[in-house]
Formats: sequence, structure tokens, C-alpha cells
Amino acid sequence: MAFSSSLVAAIGAYTTLAPAAFFTILALMACVYHLVSAFFVYPDDEAAVKRSLAPPIPSTEEVLVPPPEPVQLGDISLEELRTYDGSDPKKPLLMAIKGVVYDVSIGRMLYGPGGPYAFFAGRETSRALALMSFDLGDLNSDLDDLGEAELEVLQDWEEKFKEKYIKVGKIVLERSKGGDEMESTQETKGGS
Ligand code: HEM
Repeated sequence: MAFSSSLVAAIGAYTTLAPAAFFTILALMACVYHLVSAFFVYPDDEAAVKRSLAPPIPSTEEVLVPPPEPVQLGDISLEELRTYDGSDPKKPLLMAIKGVVYDVSIGRMLYGPGGPYAFFAGRETSRALALMSFDLGDLNSDLDDLGEAELEVLQDWEEKFKEKYIKVGKIVLERSKGGDEMESTQETKGGS
């Protein structure tokens, strides 16, 4: 009792705050400290990493194990391409530009699940890249209405991909049951 009344007196003398205000500020500071410190954790403190608000850190195995050598797939349909979106970790990550399929597995940090460009994986991306668009509706090869500047942007992307990634296939339009070629979806038009 004597301790608590001298504590209250000391708080008033040193901070000129009412005890309730002092403890409220103290609690707020503790919350802020807890929130901020959650972003700074030792990488080897697994429990702290789990508690942290920061995105999960990939395991050493994920970082160090190189992706398998690209395998040539030849002609593949858009539907098949969609299965190479990183949801099956055993399959490579593929992405198509102007109907040409590239193995982008070495860019797993960019295109793998949770990566900033994950939505490009398993898709024909020409229109989105030409327009620098993140709109899912632009994940197709429809370039008919694009201008010269946009086509140039796409060409720059194409050159970058040709240099950096290995071409592993080509998009083919699906065949109808009767064997005639038909355009299966709006996704690819006249791939090169
Ligand atoms: C807010 C604007 C943007 C910023 C700050 C930004 C930043 C970056 C950075 C820093 C990289 C390199 C990552 C690395 O190599 O580790 C990158 C790669 C990339 N960006 Fe962006 N970006 C932006 C917008 C866009 C847009 C609008 C698109 C297309 C829709 C796009 C498509 C790409 C692609 C495809 C790559 C990967 C290229 C590769 O495989 O090497 N970015 N971006």
C-alpha cells in the first residue's frame, strides 16, 4: 500500500501526469514496441519467425536447391500451361509471351507462389506486359488494338525473356473432338 502510494506520488512528481494517463501511455508504448519488434527477428529464432508479421522466410533448401534443368515440352495448350503455375512444386514454372513458352523456374522468387509476379506463371502474358498491366483480364495474347509504343514495350520484354530464360515450348490452339483446329479461349491469338 505504502509502495503504491509512493509510486503514484513519484509518477506525479517526475512526469506531471495523472497515474491513469501514465499507465495508458506506458501500455501504448509497449504495444508499439511489440508491433515494431515483430519485424526484427533473428533468422534462426524459429518461434519468433512464426510469431512475426513479416512474410515467411524461404527455407535454406528452397533457396539453395537449384531448379531442375528445363525440359522441352514442345507444343502445349493454354490449359496445360495453366498447370505450370507453381501450385505443384515438382513442376517447372512456365510463362508465355507471344505464344512462346519460357521456363522461368530460376525466377521462383518472382513468379513462384507468393512472389510479386506469381499471377504471370502458367499464363500467356503478352497483352499484360505490353500494357504494363496487372489486370488479370489482360493475361492473353490479344494485341489487335494496341499501338506502336505498346508493341515496342512488348518487344523489349520478349528480348529480355529470350536472353534470360530457356524456351521450352509453343502454345498450340486446342483441337475440337472432330480434329479441326479451333480457338479454345480468348487467351492466345496468333502466337509466333
Ligand atoms: C510499381 C511499379 C513497378 C516496380 C517498382 C517494379 C519493380 C521491379 C523490380 C525491382 C524487378 C526486378 C526484380 C528482380 O529481378 O529481382 C521487376 C521485375 C519484373 N517486373 Fe516489375 N515493377 C513494377 C511494375 C511492373 C509492371 C506494371 C509489370 C508488368 C505488368 C512488371 C513486370 C515485371 C516482370 C515480368 C519482372 C520480372 C522480369 C524477369 O523475369 O527478370 N513490373 N520489377
